[in-house]
Amino acid sequence: MRKLILSAITAAGLMASSGAALASGGGEPLMKPGFSWEGFFGRYDQAQLKRGFEIFNGVCSNCHGLRLVAYRNLAAVGLTEDEIKAVASAREIADTPNDEGEIRMRPGRPSDKYINPFPNDKAAAYANGGALPPDLSLMAKARVGGPNYIYSLMQGFVEEVPEGHSIPEGKYFNKYFPGNAISMPPQLMEDLVTYTDGTKATVEQEAADISAFLNWAAEPELNDRKSLGLKVMIFLAVFTALLYALKRQIWKNIH
Ligand code: HEC
Repeated sequence: MRKLILSAITAAGLMASSGAALASGGGEPLMKPGFSWEGFFGRYDQAQLKRGFEIFNGVCSNCHGLRLVAYRNLAAVGLTEDEIKAVASAREIADTPNDEGEIRMRPGRPSDKYINPFPNDKAAAYANGGALPPDLSLMAKARVGGPNYIYSLMQGFVEEVPEGHSIPEGKYFNKYFPGNAISMPPQLMEDLVTYTDGTKATVEQEAADISAFLNWAAEPELNDRKSLGLKVMIFLAVFTALLYALKRQIWKNIH
């Protein structure tokens, strides 16, 4: 009996702690829009990835780097070769030294990794009131809640600071950011971008799209991995059936 009570208490404790993990460091439970790639058959929605790219390229990339994504990788989100060239050449990067040993700047190429908006971390922090905008390549993996955290964070800004909180000059209150005081100003607003696919750019839509794009950046192989997983499962099912038929054949006359 005592054992039973003990295990009941342990189980209750485990359930309580997993419940707590769903709340963000900012104290508010994360919003979960339900993304297309969740579940066994879930896949990225390419149109959504492209919309997310449009937000990243137009807005976030003014402060944040994406150093693990090469411009040519953007073919996977639906950009044409010409569009990729145009996006790459919009920024300059230091070339390799020429014959005289001089280093010149040259426009980006499709094979370059996404060029950081700032020449170095000090310049980035200086431009942002001392806070470094982190590289977003792996952000969807780096925070508890992943894409749900990004989705929530982008919509978590509250203009009126709740009672009992004091936010230092140059910081903003965000319901989901650990400690609530974030150095990034609110980013999303209605019609922030004009989506090329004609989708209406509401704040929720933008938040979902940028979260999807950043999840793709951190896990670009998800679609392939899931397709392979499905093929393996089908193969195993067929193979099991074959083996079973074979076994029955072999043991038919043996009793
Ligand atoms: C004006 C510059 C600026 C722009 C534009 C900007 N950010 Fe940020 N961002 C920052 C800074 C600065 C921080 C660091 C905040 C801190 O540590 O307090 C940050 C932090 C973040 C974080 C990390 C939060 C964490 O948990 O550490 C995420 C995620 C993020 N930004 C997403 C975005 C997205 C998505 C966009 C585009 C919609 C964007 N940012 C646009 C400046 C910017």
